[in-house]
Amino acid sequence: IDVASHLVEGKLELVGTRPEALLKGEGAVIQWKGERAGAYKDENGELYVLDTTCTHMGCEVEWNSAEHSWDCPCHGSRFSYDGHVMEGPAKKPLKKIAYSDTDEVRHIPE
Ligand code: FES
Repeated sequence: IDVASHLVEGKLELVGTRPEALLKGEGAVIQWKGERAGAYKDENGELYVLDTTCTHMGCEVEWNSAEHSWDCPCHGSRFSYDGHVMEGPAKKPLKKIAYSDTDEVRHIPE
């Protein structure tokens, strides 16, 4: 993903990088202040950092790089890159995280 990427036991890990390190149009699950979070950088370089907890029943959504969406594996809810509901059963958007670019974040290996 960027020059700080490493392959750790065959899994991609971004060590000490921040969502800014994402390429435009790229999303990833990251670790933010010890919590799992979802980050996406849009084509203008704007960052969206979201709580990956599905608002239906609390499963963890995963980034869908083909569709640029956050998809829930449990009951099929889908959210746009900025967290809005695209498909139910979830009715509420993913929570936004007030991300500060001075905070340390880490990529969570798959
Ligand atoms: Fe995500 Fe049900 S918990 S769709």
